[in-house]
Amino acid sequence: MGNEEETWVVMKTARAPSNIAVIKYWGKRDEKLILPINSSISVTLDPEHLSATTTVAASPAFEKDRLWLNGKEVSVEGVRYKNCLREMRARATDVVIESSGKVIRKEDWNSLHIHIASENNFPTAAGLASSAAGFACLVYALAQLMGVQEKYEGELTAIARLGSGSACRSLYGGFVEWKMGQEIDGTDSIAVQLAEESHWKDLVIIIAVVSSRQKETSSTSGMQESVKTSPLLKYRAEMEKYDESVRKMQSNRVLMEEVVPKRIVQMEKAIKSMNFTEFAKITCADSNQFHATCLDTSPPIFYLNDTSRKLIGLVERWNRHAGEPQVAYTFDAGPNAVMFAKNKEVAAQLLQRLLYQFPPSADTDISRYVHGDQSILESAGVNSLKDIDSLSAPAEVAGIPNLQRIPGEVDYLICTNVGKGAYVLGEQGANLIDPVSGLLK
Ligand code: DP6
Repeated sequence: MGNEEETWVVMKTARAPSNIAVIKYWGKRDEKLILPINSSISVTLDPEHLSATTTVAASPAFEKDRLWLNGKEVSVEGVRYKNCLREMRARATDVVIESSGKVIRKEDWNSLHIHIASENNFPTAAGLASSAAGFACLVYALAQLMGVQEKYEGELTAIARLGSGSACRSLYGGFVEWKMGQEIDGTDSIAVQLAEESHWKDLVIIIAVVSSRQKETSSTSGMQESVKTSPLLKYRAEMEKYDESVRKMQSNRVLMEEVVPKRIVQMEKAIKSMNFTEFAKITCADSNQFHATCLDTSPPIFYLNDTSRKLIGLVERWNRHAGEPQVAYTFDAGPNAVMFAKNKEVAAQLLQRLLYQFPPSADTDISRYVHGDQSILESAGVNSLKDIDSLSAPAEVAGIPNLQRIPGEVDYLICTNVGKGAYVLGEQGANLIDPVSGLLK
């Protein structure tokens, strides 16, 4: 290494979206292979607003694998990164470098080190599935760099799964199911697309970022504790059917009526037929049961806070008043609410309600408070802080005493849509790694 011909750097950049589960994954039957105790379903979020961008580079001059996350170098020695890199190297093929015509042979990939630079366009580990977007993006970018072709559909999703379970759902756009699978080696624990992003155009998503600080209990350790100690989780996933080792961990065999397997079927139907009422009922119920499972864990895990509960109240009151669901809410392992509005009009009304109940603090500009798709803000007719002051209380809160409106209680809002899956960024400017030094730009 080190001579003139050997100084090339080859790289690819990709972007992958975040996703939000409407039927939650919580609990593994195999910790190493990251195999879940139940199937889950998610909606892919528009990568324009919530995504990871990752550049992967290879060069004979690189001395070791290296990783930069959001501008800071971190260790790539973690088992999850190692597993993803190993599986991708094993599937690499002969690749011709376009600019020079040089061929990187299949077997060369085993000795070539990789530099990875990744950044999110939203806060890391705030319960907004940053690891999902990150690992999906890493696997997708490596597939482009190493010329990996899937041998079976969903093979890349099974590799992303080794990075973080929910990452397998971030490779595809629209509505995605992670099928738990049955095989011991995890080859059938893959994500499949239920419907494309263009399937249900009416849906609008508004996220209330309640805290962009890092969460206290990671999903990984939280779900381990729940699997060990929560009888409700066992009931939820109907685990005993699938896993002997989990059964041994818990002595009390519980009711046989399954929750998630049934909900998966109902949710597939609701999505395919665009039945918002069903979609909303199942989404809220599954989020609430997931958080009940956290509370049922010993010691209990609290991801929701008072603001989250106020957001639930806002939606529940409105839905009841309207006579049928207008909005659905769901919360992952953090206090941020992800809300689905039935259509654009309802989204504008939701935004008005959110701005009324959760006004920004006095020094916050409206454009800093409402991120993402600005057309919803326009439809809501709100252009300034003054407009928020003149919003009136929605009918359903009339007569509710002590409805507190604390400016700044919500950090900010993100308006977004159902989005597409992972894709390559072709422009040179998108690369996060310098093509000469091979280091973070
Ligand atoms: C609450 O995928 O972050 O967001 O597999 O251990 O990396 P690991 O966990 P992770 O868990 C996500 C949990 C969830 C629900 C979901 O996305 O389905």
